[in-house]
Amino acid sequence: MPRDQRPGKPVGNDAGRGRAAPAPRLVVARAVHAEGIRSIYNRAIETSTATFEMTPKTLPEQLEWIAEHSGAHPAVVAVDDGDSVFGFGSLSPYRPRPAYSTTVENSVYVDEAFQRRGIGRAILEELVRLAEAHGFHVVIARIAGDNDASVALHTACGFEMVGVEHEVGRKFGRWLDVVCMERLL
Ligand SMILES: CC(C)(COP(=O)(O)OP(=O)(O)OC[C@H]1O[C@@H](n2cnc3c(N)ncnc32)[C@H](O)[C@@H]1OP(=O)(O)O)[C@@H](O)C(=O)NCCC(=O)NCCS
Repeated sequence: MPRDQRPGKPVGNDAGRGRAAPAPRLVVARAVHAEGIRSIYNRAIETSTATFEMTPKTLPEQLEWIAEHSGAHPAVVAVDDGDSVFGFGSLSPYRPRPAYSTTVENSVYVDEAFQRRGIGRAILEELVRLAEAHGFHVVIARIAGDNDASVALHTACGFEMVGVEHEVGRKFGRWLDVVCMERLL
């Protein structure tokens, strides 16, 4: 059976805040998850500095993103049995120049209603496991300086602080620092 059609790993816990949810499981992202991913990501684009994207993604763009995130640079989703998406994460090439090819950059997003239930940690741990399994050497996280939740999540998953790029971004009329964190595999 192909990996993305297996039942997937159960994740998270029921002790968190927010709406009750069936225990999610982690699977490789497929086209059926595009709207769920898009909904979570577009909310982050429109309301937060978690992403430096400024324009909401269209469905065709989201489908293209899923198609690009396969093989060595996968995307994973935390879903229920009906393929509702609670969160997602991905590995992407860190830089286009060839000597960077052993490094990947991660991203992880969890639906606001389902945060603090262990879903983000499960997604990030799975991304680290996949990066190691795929032979990469370093996972980099580039995090907005005001994103304390993401810094805490990455710290909890064994990432170490590398440094801060000051005022390299601008969104909602203010300068944004970028905190760079790394995990060597
Ligand atoms: C960052 C994010 C992915 C965390 O996901 P989550 O499912 O809520 O996180 P988890 O419940 O798995 O938390 C794992 C650990 O991360 C840390 N953490 C997560 N959210 C935190 C918060 N708001 N404040 C402090 N620590 C936090 C804690 O150490 C936590 O462990 P604990 O619950 O045992 O204390 C989530 O807040 C999110 O989607 N934010 C918006 C998108 C975003 O910022 N993505 C990252 C872009 S770089």
